[in-house]
Amino acid sequence: MEKKLQELKDEILDKIKSIRDANILSELETKYLGRKGELTTILRGIASLSLEEKKKIGSLANSIKNDIQEKFNEIKNSIENASVSDDFIDVTLPGKKFRRGHLSPLTIVQDELEDLFVSMGFLVADGPELESDFYNFEALNIPPTHPARDMQDTFYIDKKNKKGDLDMVLRTHTSSVQVRTMQNHGAPLRAVCPGRVYRCEATDVRHEHTFYQFEGLVVDKGINFSHLKGVLKEIGIKLYGPETKVRMRPKFYPFVEPGVNIEYTCFICGGKGCNLCKKTGWLEVGGCGMIHPNVLKAGGIDPKAYTGFAFGYGLNRLVMLKYGIGDIRLFNGGDLRFTEQF
Ligand code: PHE
Repeated sequence: MEKKLQELKDEILDKIKSIRDANILSELETKYLGRKGELTTILRGIASLSLEEKKKIGSLANSIKNDIQEKFNEIKNSIENASVSDDFIDVTLPGKKFRRGHLSPLTIVQDELEDLFVSMGFLVADGPELESDFYNFEALNIPPTHPARDMQDTFYIDKKNKKGDLDMVLRTHTSSVQVRTMQNHGAPLRAVCPGRVYRCEATDVRHEHTFYQFEGLVVDKGINFSHLKGVLKEIGIKLYGPETKVRMRPKFYPFVEPGVNIEYTCFICGGKGCNLCKKTGWLEVGGCGMIHPNVLKAGGIDPKAYTGFAFGYGLNRLVMLKYGIGDIRLFNGGDLRFTEQF
């Protein structure tokens, strides 16, 4: 009996020493020390022993039982303490600050303009950046041999069409979306097309190979130049304040007739002349005009029934003027210190 008790003690201590789970520990406690537990059963058997043996085995059994109970308590305590320190949250400590991302200033201004145009009933259209020669040039009244192609240095993709001509370009302007939108929606039409464009340029503070434009077009019966001017004025006021005036001067673009540039009164000097506007009082931000009949035709719209206007802003230029950014290359530079300022 003595031996059996000793063995049981060793077995129990060995089993529980590495337990770290309070539930498993309490199951074992019932198994060995509970009312019907193994040790308890042995202890009950003592009653049938002789008086002498009862004394001897009884005190041994009791001390073994106490040892085991003590060990159980010890392990139970250490499990409890461990879980308390793991879960402990000091609510008086200052919280961890998460680093927030920033929208590019291009995105901020693009979003603002989109909202403004949507409020005027325009839809926001999209087109591919890798564009066919047709939508980027031909449909816009710029045939393959036309010298107007020289106005926009272009990245051609090495892929030829059936005629053997290079057919795909990285779009040089968002005007490529004009004819696509006419084909998709027909007339009457009010749409803006913001997006990224590419030119094969040597870069400097004012020139980039990858930049953004914000295009718009309206086609309907009886649309004329004063509608165009009214829209441009709204945009100027939105971007640069209520005093802003708009000026248009003739400029050639093959896809509009007449074509003009878009200028706003300088928001720094209010038109008096300063360094930003090179003493002219005006800032040039884009081009526009009445859509050429050939372009309407390419879009499947009858130029005898409908007229329309189109405009294209250099979005980077708008943003540079709005925030006083001196170098266009900062937009694609990937320096977070730039973006984090907005
Ligand atoms: N696509 C022209 C450019 O990139 C801008 C423009 C758009 C001019 C629409 C007239 C009408 O320079």
